[in-house]
Amino acid sequence: MREPTAVFDVQRLRSAFPALARSDDEGRPFVFADAPGGSQVPDAVIDAVATRYRSGLSNTHGAFTTSEETDRVIADARRAAADLTGAEPGEIVFGPNATTLLLHLSRSLGKTLEPGDEVVVTRLDHDANVRPWVLAAADAGAVVRWVDVRDEDVTIDPDSFDAALSPRTRLVAFTLASNAVGTIPPAADLVARAKERGAIVALDGVHLAQHRLPDLRGSGADVLACSPYKFFGPHLGILAARRELLESLTPYKLVPAPDEAPERWETGTQNHEGLAGLAAAVGYLADVAGATDGTRRDRLSASYDAIAAHERVLADRFLAGVAELPHVRLWGIADRTRLAERTPTFAIRVGDEHPADTAKRLAASGIFVWDGDYYAREIMTRLGLLESGGAVRVGFCHYHTVDEVDRVLEALASLP
Ligand SMILES: Cc1ncc(COP(=O)(O)O)c(C=O)c1O
Repeated sequence: MREPTAVFDVQRLRSAFPALARSDDEGRPFVFADAPGGSQVPDAVIDAVATRYRSGLSNTHGAFTTSEETDRVIADARRAAADLTGAEPGEIVFGPNATTLLLHLSRSLGKTLEPGDEVVVTRLDHDANVRPWVLAAADAGAVVRWVDVRDEDVTIDPDSFDAALSPRTRLVAFTLASNAVGTIPPAADLVARAKERGAIVALDGVHLAQHRLPDLRGSGADVLACSPYKFFGPHLGILAARRELLESLTPYKLVPAPDEAPERWETGTQNHEGLAGLAAAVGYLADVAGATDGTRRDRLSASYDAIAAHERVLADRFLAGVAELPHVRLWGIADRTRLAERTPTFAIRVGDEHPADTAKRLAASGIFVWDGDYYAREIMTRLGLLESGGAVRVGFCHYHTVDEVDRVLEALASLP
């Protein structure tokens, strides 16, 4: 099968990912079409983590060499995360994962809510950007307003979004990309509408960051959550938040922990070896398109343009192929002229088969896909899929090839 006109050399990139070389007992390479659940990592990330272990670990701010190295690892990681999220290093908070960081922030924000204040969440979001705000609202006696999706393409309904806003809106939370159906909402427009009401805006960039370059400052939002394990790095969480917010809210913290932002938001000892891997993941991403000019953020921007172009080819191929399979139903944007509005993440069902059974049968062909709700609980309920097993999720990213998309399509075609 012929590869698309390359925007980068995908085979060269793939050779940097040892896991992608794995195959089953019959020698068929695995297809890791579970990318929305977590990406594979390149050698540079593995080496950076291993180097940190080999060089000697230590806690921060000590009077000896390895402690100074740890301080440098954290400073480097903050700069890397800032470049990736479009924030300043002083606006980066690290933690174990995005969920923990959003729950942490919501507990502090909740203390500023008054009875009758309103928070706005969407049916499209992963629960990590829903439940923290719903729980905080419940504690404060605040009201939760829900934003619905449009039936035909599972995109955010702009009328519903507007209707959810009011002069009492204190917080608006929405996703930059759905980890279930791949929808990319028009973030700048939605942030602007929320900001007209003076609301704090919290964006979930966890799924987006695998496919597009997030931009906290450029978006005009206040908070942006990301998870490096979705963008070719280690299992960690990043909360990029405007400095004013990190300084004005009061986190739950231990007395000896620093009083200054962003450190005062970081609870306990950080994953220092993981942070070394995070900086390496951002370094990998900055080199994807081979750009050499400009800042690291500029090079990241060039890389993500190339990633988006490559992924458009993959998404186009998948949508064209699935349209030929009458027994496969897809939820989300199916229109091949609207690829800019989605990631190559597809929620499907094969006939009336339980999604877990489809996933098992694909696994028998060496194809790894997820099934269920992937914590996108609201959308699965809204689409009426939750009780019967959710959906099968097929998700690609920039290291996938058209051949792999075809292998998934062929396997789907063979399922009755
Ligand atoms: C869109 C989205 N948001 C949030 C999360 C939660 O991230 P974490 O696993 O870092 O808590 C996920 C995880 O799958 C996700 O896909």
